[in-house]
Amino acid sequence: MDRKEFLSATIALCSLGLIPAGIFESCSKATNNGPTNVNFTVDLNASANASLNNVGGALVVSGVIIIRFSTTEFYAYSAYCTHEGCQVGYNATSARIICPCHGGQFNASTGSVLAGPPPSGLAKYIVTQNGNMLTITS
Ligand code: FES
Repeated sequence: MDRKEFLSATIALCSLGLIPAGIFESCSKATNNGPTNVNFTVDLNASANASLNNVGGALVVSGVIIIRFSTTEFYAYSAYCTHEGCQVGYNATSARIICPCHGGQFNASTGSVLAGPPPSGLAKYIVTQNGNMLTITS
């Protein structure tokens, strides 16, 4: 396999998602802007979503990190860091969204960059609560 064939095969595998993000920079870049056409619900009564029943809890669903910021406030952002696409997590103590790869930090209320190399904030989604159901949309 020559160089051109290798690159063609690599691009094909990246586009199919068969090469894990992070091995090749070009693979991970595809997810940096976050999911599009987001529209799903989360049942707060389901045991799988129990982390959202406590203030400071967070959960990643379908590439979106959902944060229970207060008793009445939920926020949802892309779970993919805008730097190189690592999955972010929530630190309730600092009220920041943290990227474990290179120290990127985001404001949990707005998704804007507070520290580190991320070039832009996280995509923010709309969270609507109706009883025990959350609806997350683009
Ligand atoms: S991938 Fe998040 S700071 Fe680099």
